[in-house]
Order: sequence, then C-alpha cells, then structure tokens
Amino acid sequence: MIVPLKVAVEKLKSGEVVAIPTETVYGLAAPINNLDAIKKIFSTKERPFFDPLIVHVSDITQAKSLVKNWLPQCQVLAEAFWPGPLTLVISKSTAVSDLITSGLEGVGLRMPNHPIALQIINEVGVPLAAPSANKFGKTSPTMAIHVENEFKNEAVAVVDGGPCQVGIESTVLLVQQENGEVKFAVLRKGAITAEQISAALAQQGLPALFFETTDKKVSPGHMKHHYMPAVPFVISKSEDKVLDLHRIGQEVFSELSRMPDEIEGIKIVKPEQSFNAPQELKLSLDPALAARSFYAQLREIAQGDTDLIVFNYHESLHSQPAWEALMERMFKAASLVLEN
Ligand code: TXA
Ligand code: MG
Repeated sequence: MIVPLKVAVEKLKSGEVVAIPTETVYGLAAPINNLDAIKKIFSTKERPFFDPLIVHVSDITQAKSLVKNWLPQCQVLAEAFWPGPLTLVISKSTAVSDLITSGLEGVGLRMPNHPIALQIINEVGVPLAAPSANKFGKTSPTMAIHVENEFKNEAVAVVDGGPCQVGIESTVLLVQQENGEVKFAVLRKGAITAEQISAALAQQGLPALFFETTDKKVSPGHMKHHYMPAVPFVISKSEDKVLDLHRIGQEVFSELSRMPDEIEGIKIVKPEQSFNAPQELKLSLDPALAARSFYAQLREIAQGDTDLIVFNYHESLHSQPAWEALMERMFKAASLVLEN
C-alpha cells in the first residue's frame, strides 16, 4: 500500500512499521523509542533477533546522542560520506535498546542520502531503525512495488521515493577503540570502499588501521546465503561466451534438488520439477549501473515463467575491485556456483 509522506509519519508516530526509500535499498522503519514497533520489524520480516538493525539519523547531532564517544574519526567520516551509503558501528549509549543491536555493544548508524527518508526522520523527530524491507534472506527491494509484493499479506505501508540509485546496501564499518588506538573493520562491503575511507581520514591527518573479522559475535547478520530470489539462481564460471542454458539446467537440477531446505536459517530455493524456462541475468558492464539494477532484475526475472536464473561470470571483469560489493551479494544470492 503506497502512502503519502504525511501518512507515513503519522503511522510511524502511532507505532506502525512503514517502508521508506533510501539511496541504497528500501528500509522497513520504526522509531527507536518504540520497542513494540521495533519488534514488529522483526516479526514482519521473519527476521531472527540475533541480526541487528541499522539506525537512521537525519543529522550528526542525532548520531552523537546515540553513542558513548563520538570520536574525531567518526566526525571526519560522517562529514565525508553522510548523507550516504556508509554505516558506522560505534559503541552505543543507553539511548539505544539491546533489541536493536541484538545485544551487541555497538550500534550501526547512517544518514541516508534520500530527501524523503531525511524528511520522514525529521518529522517523526526520532531516529528510525530500518533493515532492508524484505523477508529474511530474500532479495532486497529497490522500488516501492518490490516492498508491496514482498509484504502482500502484511499490507505494509510504503512511501514511493522512486528506484534506489545505489541499489545495494551500505558499507558497514566497525569503529573500535582499544587501548587508545582506533581501528576499523569493514563488516559488509558497499559503494564506499576501504580506500575511500582511508583517504578521507588521511586528509585530516588521521591514520586508518584496518583489521579483518568474520567473527559472528561482531558481525552476526552474515550467512553463506542471502538476497535469494524466488527461483533458483546459479552462477556459471565456464567463461563460455554464450551460455547453453538448457544444458546448465540439466546439469544443476539434481544437485539443486539435493540441497538442504535451509542453510544457517536461510531457506534454500529448490526446483519443483526439471527446468523448462531458464533465463540469463545480463548486467551492465559498468559496476555502478549493474549494482543499481541487480536486485530489480533478479525480482523481475523470477516473477515471470522463468524457473532458473543463470549469470555468466567473467573472471577478468567481475573479479575487479569495483565489482567486489556487488559480487558478494551475487554469490550469496546464488544457490550454486558452476566452476566450469
Ligand atoms: O543500506 C543499508 O544499510 C540498508 C538501508 C535500509 O539503510 N539497510 C540494511 O539493513 O541493509 P539490513 O538489516 O538488511 O542489514 C544490516 C546489517 C546486519 O545484517 C548486520 O550484518 C549489520 O548490518 N549490522 C547492523 N547493526 C550492526 C551492529 N550493531 N554491529 C554489527 N553489525 C551490524
Ligand atoms: Mg537486508
């Protein structure tokens, strides 16, 4: 159900969840001071409570009120990249409930670069927790219609802000202070890269010490599979110029049928019968444009008669750094990768 901004603000104030546009993907929002509404986010998405929510702010002052210690590094990064697709995970203040952070010490904060999102946060007057507006483990929404289709049964109100310009979720950056030293870890790749983050800090004379972590206790929402479309999706690494989709369909059918129903709590999309209508996912050669349309294309193809989606992966192109964030989503969305 598409609603005007004013109605969305009223609904949010009265404790309903509402989907709002951002520049990355649509988010399913609730004010952080209404814990019943926050619980509704989890139940509507069928999301487990161990996966923390990002809190969206409309200015830096609001962000400061949610953390223990707003470091100079946070100020530099917020000034450089906000509003924009960068989430900073910072030690939280008591203003943020453990329900939002899944009991973690840090809260993920971001100022979205979308005028409608910013106006809604302003008018509600409270920061909004908002995960991507899709069922847990499924493809993220980049248009209002995606949200409507995803939550048909729940009749979620959504504000239409047009197609998302970035198209994949924000970079999540952990900011950690240990023994007086500030260190960073990219928990989820996105449009803003570690190089850009380092450069912004260097410009202000601040060092950028990065470490790597795959620790589930630091970054719980990271499963092998995620973003999965409604029909099986397979990546072919064959390097064939033209894919023989029917041959691939025959090759992957039995392997896909034998996959478990669930991996790490994410439902695996399995075939019902042999594939009759496979279709290739074709992306732009420009990584930013490809990212912008990726989720929408997955949804669109899966909506029709297509029963298998195949992507032709080219090592020389898709392994380049500019493709990293998109490829991370691509490989999680795939049920299977065909090595040759
Ligand atoms: O672009 C985005 O980030 C979108 C839009 C709506 O802002 N939001 C989004 O939220 O992608 P979600 O819930 O689908 O993914 C958020 C992920 C979590 O799964 C988790 O991995 C990480 O961000 N995250 C959030 N809060 C965290 C925290 N306090 N500590 C560590 N990781 C956190
Ligand atoms: Mg998500």
